[in-house]
Amino acid sequence: MRKPLIAANWKMNTTPSEAVDLVKQMLPALDAVSGVETLICPPFISLVAVSELLRQSRVMLGAQNAYYEEKGAFTGEVSPLMLSGLCRYVILGHSERRSLFGESSQVVNKKVKAAIKSGLKPILCVGESLTDNDGGRTESVVTAQLKESLDGILEAVGLVIAYEPVWSIGTGRAASGTQANSTIKMIRDVLATLIGWQTADATRILYGGSVNAANIAEFIEQPEIDGALVGGASLKAAEFVSIVKQAASIKGCN
Ligand code: 13P
Repeated sequence: MRKPLIAANWKMNTTPSEAVDLVKQMLPALDAVSGVETLICPPFISLVAVSELLRQSRVMLGAQNAYYEEKGAFTGEVSPLMLSGLCRYVILGHSERRSLFGESSQVVNKKVKAAIKSGLKPILCVGESLTDNDGGRTESVVTAQLKESLDGILEAVGLVIAYEPVWSIGTGRAASGTQANSTIKMIRDVLATLIGWQTADATRILYGGSVNAANIAEFIEQPEIDGALVGGASLKAAEFVSIVKQAASIKGCN
C-alpha cells in the first residue's frame, strides 16, 4: 500500500515572516490528519524557520531545488548536503526549472543522484508541453524525461515522481482524473523497466497542475494516483487543509 503524499510547492512566494504565519495557520489542522503524508516546500530562505515550527509535527519539510555538488565555488547554489539536516524531500526537475532556467534531464539526473546520496528523497517532476500533448507525444516525451533523469539509478527507494503536465500548471486547466491516471499508469510501467517492478510498485506517483479543494477528490480516487503536488492552492491555509483532509478520507492508510 502506497501512503498518499500531499505536497505544497510554494514556489517563489512568501517572505520568511509570511511563511511562518502561513505554517502557523495550517499546522494544527494538518497535524490532526493521519493516513497521508503532508509536505511543505517553502523557499530556501524560510527552511530554517519553518523547520523549527515543524519539529514536533508530523508535517514534513522539503526544498524546491538543489544543486548536484556537495560544496565549492558555485555562487548562489544550495547543496543536498546542506539540506539533508533540515529536509526530508527535495523537488527536482520542476518544469519551471526546465523551461525558465534551462535545466536539462541530464542535469536533473545529476541532481537526483546527489540528492539520493545525501539521504534526501527526490520528487522528480516530469510532464509534457501543450504542443506535445496536442501532437500526441505525451508518452514519448515523458518516457524520455524519465529515462534520462533516472539514468544509472538502480537504487531508488524513497523516490517520488510528480506528473505535472506543463499546460495545467498555474492555468486553472487541470487534466481530468482519468487522463492523469492513464499517464501515471504509463509512468509506472516505464519505471518498472528502469528500476524493477517491485520498486516501481512501491513508488508514489503524484499528479500536479491546478489541483485545488474542488478537484482533489477526482485525482485521489484514481487507483494509480498517490497524491498531489499543489502550487497556488497550497498558499491558502484553509484550501490546503481541505485538500489534505479530503485525500486522507478518500485514500488514507497507515
Ligand atoms: P499549480 O497548482 O499552481 O498549478 O502549480 C502546480 C505545480 O507546479 C506544483 O509544483
